[in-house]
Amino acid sequence: MAGPIPAQSSFATAGESSPASRLSLRRPDDWHVHLRDGSLLQAVAPATARQFGRAIVMPNLNPPITTVAAAVAYRERIYAALPDGAAFTPLMTAYLTDTIDPAELERGHAAGVFSACKLYPANATTNSAAGVSDLAKLTRVFETLERIALPLLIHGEVTDGAVDIFDREAVFIERHLEPLLRRHPGLKVVLEHITTAEAADFVAAAGPQLAATITPHHLHINRNALFQGGLRPDLYCLPVAKRERHRLALVAAATSGNPKFFLGTDSAPHPRHAKEAACGCAGIYNAPYAIESYAMVFEAEGQLGRLEAFASEFGPRFYGLEPNPGQITLVREPHTVPPRLHANDAAGVAIALVPFHAGAVLPWRLLD
Ligand code: NCD
Ligand code: ZN
Repeated sequence: MAGPIPAQSSFATAGESSPASRLSLRRPDDWHVHLRDGSLLQAVAPATARQFGRAIVMPNLNPPITTVAAAVAYRERIYAALPDGAAFTPLMTAYLTDTIDPAELERGHAAGVFSACKLYPANATTNSAAGVSDLAKLTRVFETLERIALPLLIHGEVTDGAVDIFDREAVFIERHLEPLLRRHPGLKVVLEHITTAEAADFVAAAGPQLAATITPHHLHINRNALFQGGLRPDLYCLPVAKRERHRLALVAAATSGNPKFFLGTDSAPHPRHAKEAACGCAGIYNAPYAIESYAMVFEAEGQLGRLEAFASEFGPRFYGLEPNPGQITLVREPHTVPPRLHANDAAGVAIALVPFHAGAVLPWRLLD
């Protein structure tokens, strides 16, 4: 589904002869986003704030966010990048390293700064070199998180070069996640941006302390999209998209009404020149049309009625927060996603960002 999308869908609820033309939802949240820093932050933060009431902001800056002070300063820079009057709250996360002090996490939690901690296996993805090399080194951290009920967000891929890249998520679950949950049964864990049937099944079968986020792109594309007509760097992200049977399992999980699956875009912008390169960066920039993208998937499944719970209710419920008070409205108004969005870098030089669905027609449009 990387190509143009039909403007009219066939969705209609029982007793309805024509599809709905407006859809109002409680204001959604994004439980996994990369807002970056500096000029890129200025360029991308307004798109997330326009779509969402809150977002869990990833800490994989360079250097990563490992202290309360760094998170507070980053939060200030995010607020400064928002348009006047934006009703958006960034929820900050701490980046776990082999040597992070659990007392710092506890302080950040008590101060209302840290909403979660992020575990990147070392070298699994962008800016993860300082990540965790061995989960056994973090026993005290996990004990602390368990005690204070601070969620642990996991990039669930092994980094073992001997494991095929398409198997790294399933192997992580077997080798690391399952034993971790056994050792720390009270730990609240989100398996982030799941991409496989194995992950969806594992999460569905686990207790209520384990949930998962699902991105729009993993609901739309399978791994063929990466090679459709040539190499497509703008559809490369980590974890990489898998076979069609996995995409179908993710669609089933997202639209099932199971509160363990909720919205997390993993919007991860990189300038076009860094993606369309000999060694292109992983990450898909989907923030500008995220809710429209999810709406298409739910509609195609005949489950538009479950979008609000996935986007706006299950996430806050897991994090122990109230859902947002306001609403957003989508209208059925086919529109073409621009092939490029433009921003300026720190030196004022124009940089291009390629949004997810670039050049495609989306059937729903979010009203301002
Ligand atoms: C993310 C990034 O660019 O920061 N990239 C990605 O492909 N999702 C890192 C991550 O979440 O893996
Ligand atoms: Zn991410």
